[in-house]
Amino acid sequence: MDTNEVEYSFVDTESNERVSVYICEGSSTEYGLYVWPCAHIMSQYIWKKRHNLREKKILEVGAGCGLPGALASKLGAKVIFSDAEHLQQALESSRCTSEINSLVDVEVIPITWGQVTTQLAALSSLDIIIGSDAFYDTKDFEDIIFTISYILSKNPCCEFWTTYQQRSANRSIEALLRKWKLSAEFVHIDDIRNKVSISLRSDNNSVALDKDSTLTGLDSVQLIIIRSSH
Ligand SMILES: C[S@@+](CC[C@H](N)C(=O)[O-])C[C@H]1O[C@@H](n2cnc3c(N)ncnc32)[C@H](O)[C@@H]1O
Repeated sequence: MDTNEVEYSFVDTESNERVSVYICEGSSTEYGLYVWPCAHIMSQYIWKKRHNLREKKILEVGAGCGLPGALASKLGAKVIFSDAEHLQQALESSRCTSEINSLVDVEVIPITWGQVTTQLAALSSLDIIIGSDAFYDTKDFEDIIFTISYILSKNPCCEFWTTYQQRSANRSIEALLRKWKLSAEFVHIDDIRNKVSISLRSDNNSVALDKDSTLTGLDSVQLIIIRSSH
């Protein structure tokens, strides 16, 4: 895969706490080979929650490059990255992130939405599922919700943290959440949006991201926490 190594730095300016995550981004900006705006928002939320993530068991679905999962791992969580079995480049992208960050206590496994496999059935004791921009293609919406519902039924205290980009007013997951007996909490994220400041390092040159020009779409991203309502 033709990739650039990019550094995303998360900084607390008051305490000077700082964590960097390195991502192998593909040269083509497609699908699981690129960090989507939703992943920026999810990562900022994870950074905000960083003091509560140590030892938490986290599954990232549709991980692609896996920026949020890699950050959670660096903050002490036990992370399982997953992506579709038939999208091997996306799984490779998660593996690349694990390797270049020397992450410990991580796994990369195939989980295809809508399919119950032995790997999905074997998952246990999960605390959080992360899915940034999983709801990208409407044909997958019910399959994703089926998979989440399946995991939550076996892990009743688990929460699904998802960032959702509103691409059209005609798209919604609300009816599906009701059908699968899931509840949704919309998290207020203005403070996160305004704080997105990520420095990128590509080919050994540091570049400060101009969030207005580079992170288009942030204004249409929602952060939702989904739980079982059984
Ligand atoms: C819009 S990208 C988001 C990637 C990454 N989470 C991010 O925010 O940067 C959608 C992701 O879903 C994965 N995906 C697509 N179809 C899938 C399926 N049927 N099952 C599981 N993952 C799938 C893609 O490989 C890709 O990584």
